[in-house]
Amino acid sequence: MKTLLVGYRAADLFENGRHGRRATAGWLDGDVTCHTLDVYDRHAIEKTHHVKAVCSPHLPKGPWDLVKFRTGPKLMSGELALDLLQEIHLLAPARFELDFVGRERDRNDLVAKIKDDPNRVRSFAAKWKASVQGVEPIELTSFPGCFCHRRRDEGGLALAEVVARELRTERRDGAVKLLDMGCGCGLVGFLVAKAVPNVSLVMVDSHSRAVEAANLNSASLGVPAEVILADSGTPSRMDGSFDVFVGNPPYYSDYRIADVFLETAKRALRPGGVCYTVCKNAAGLEPVQKRYFPEVETVMRRGYAVLKSIKGS
Ligand SMILES: C[S@@+](CC[C@H](N)C(=O)[O-])C[C@H]1O[C@@H](n2cnc3c(N)ncnc32)[C@H](O)[C@@H]1O
Repeated sequence: MKTLLVGYRAADLFENGRHGRRATAGWLDGDVTCHTLDVYDRHAIEKTHHVKAVCSPHLPKGPWDLVKFRTGPKLMSGELALDLLQEIHLLAPARFELDFVGRERDRNDLVAKIKDDPNRVRSFAAKWKASVQGVEPIELTSFPGCFCHRRRDEGGLALAEVVARELRTERRDGAVKLLDMGCGCGLVGFLVAKAVPNVSLVMVDSHSRAVEAANLNSASLGVPAEVILADSGTPSRMDGSFDVFVGNPPYYSDYRIADVFLETAKRALRPGGVCYTVCKNAAGLEPVQKRYFPEVETVMRRGYAVLKSIKGS
């Protein structure tokens, strides 16, 4: 019996099954795999659950005897739910169970969208444009689940504008080695690389669809980039040789992820290298940045605060 668990905290379905709360006549016997889109979730599952976990932008090929999908309006966007449901439909598992957290009406709406025309395969990719002053707009592709899907993030754009402006006015020899952590589909890194001559770009994100989108955008824009799937900055790669670090971290979980970004920035930058982060509220992020860089300068742009620090020797 081969089972695939998909969706938000899908590994909990396995634990609940093992401990009998939801289990029906041994359905979890055999080979169980839990799919995640984010490598952080994969690592968390490996620590806390006794189930095999895979992280990939698309669902692993079967054949699957059972696919169980946990979703709901509060757990993921409707578009991501539909995209994953379509992938499950294409996998053609012997059995499918939907663990829907929400109203019956919303559940039926979601299922109807697939059932109405089961052979129609929709693309959920979106193309949209972004620009910084003095450079032609660039076109980026994004996918459901990856940040930002279908639109540019104003904080990311503010960060790109400030960094591009500062690097353009700098006199230097050779390439600027730039690390874009939490790159999403690549908004900040690609805008800076288009605006500033001779940028050597490394991008990191924990979300597999962000990495997929960044790789695709690197090819379509003709901007070479090394794109790495990682949730803790890949220690050996962050070797104190970068000139510039840019990060637009998520601010949930009490700045814990911003802390991971800044710890990586400190490790990755060479002495004299510059760290730029962005947030809506400087008062929240500044104390975190000061743990790693004693001096923090704030540049306001588009209602966002870009925090700039220089790594000491
Ligand atoms: C606010 S988005 C910024 C995306 C893009 N830089 C922009 O400005 O549009 C934050 C990104 O950080 C990524 N992320 C979250 N935790 C991470 C971690 N521990 N390591 C690497 N990336 C992470 C998310 O997947 C997301 O793509």
